[in-house]
Amino acid sequence: MSRKVTKAIFPVAGLGTRFLPATKSVPKEIMTLVDRPLVQYAIDEARAAGITEFIFVTSRGKSALEDYFDHNPILEEELRAKGKDKLLETLDATNMESGAIAYIRQHKALGLGHAVWCARRLIGDEPFAVMLPDDVIAAEKPCLQQMVEAYEETGGNMVATMEVAPERTSAYGILDVAENVGTVVRARGMVEKPKPEEAPSNLAVIGRYIMGPSVLYNLNHMKKGSGGEIQLTDAIAEDIGNGVPVFGYRFKGQRFDCGSKAGFLQATVSFALARDDLRDDLTRYLNDIVATSKAAQ
Ligand code: G1P
Repeated sequence: MSRKVTKAIFPVAGLGTRFLPATKSVPKEIMTLVDRPLVQYAIDEARAAGITEFIFVTSRGKSALEDYFDHNPILEEELRAKGKDKLLETLDATNMESGAIAYIRQHKALGLGHAVWCARRLIGDEPFAVMLPDDVIAAEKPCLQQMVEAYEETGGNMVATMEVAPERTSAYGILDVAENVGTVVRARGMVEKPKPEEAPSNLAVIGRYIMGPSVLYNLNHMKKGSGGEIQLTDAIAEDIGNGVPVFGYRFKGQRFDCGSKAGFLQATVSFALARDDLRDDLTRYLNDIVATSKAAQ
């Protein structure tokens, strides 16, 4: 099987209840970090890694996502007429080539494994990536690109990984590590959301995966796991038993958990500070509020 990865699945069917009331009418993935929707960061990262086919697993109420990736001829015409070339360029990055994007509905919220399985007919017999847009990773070389390069050497299945505080294991898929050789870690097992006292390590799965179609076959018969949901972690772990190696890739970069409000705010501040047009004002403001709060103590 070729190790060239050209397809990526984006599971975006979640209700985003942590961000209610905003997510009552706005899909979480459209919420903005500075001025770009969360999902745009994932798309840009996928493109940098050589992905050319983008598969979104959606649900009811996500039509704003489909509109976001569509051309908007009226807006474009108006910007052109006004000579706003910079804004036209900005819009261009959101326009997808015809046929490059597909939407599949997940009819029931049965878990991440089930969401990925919903896209099986669009994957066929080749390796594919899965990207969870909630995990935003700031990196010099985009995370998925780092992984694609490593995967060309290793094959098998690969997940992005990083160390988390031992008391936080129950929020993640956790690797049972067989061999810890530098950037690439070989796993002998994976457990979804173990309690700290049961966790085999503190190496957590972060939302970037490169997998072979065998994981989709495993999902054909996957039973409910942690939280009563069909877990992607379990389907990948099953592959280890079938002799397909599973690797954790310690990516270089900073990961923000934009599925949580604190992580979303941290990402917002961090991305704003990286911008030439916002850095000075924001730095001044942050320094001021820190000084004021210190003075009040
Ligand atoms: C999902 C995966 C989990 C992974 C996490 C990374 O969990 O099931 O294995 O560690 O994403 O963000 P969720 O955060 O959707 O509950």
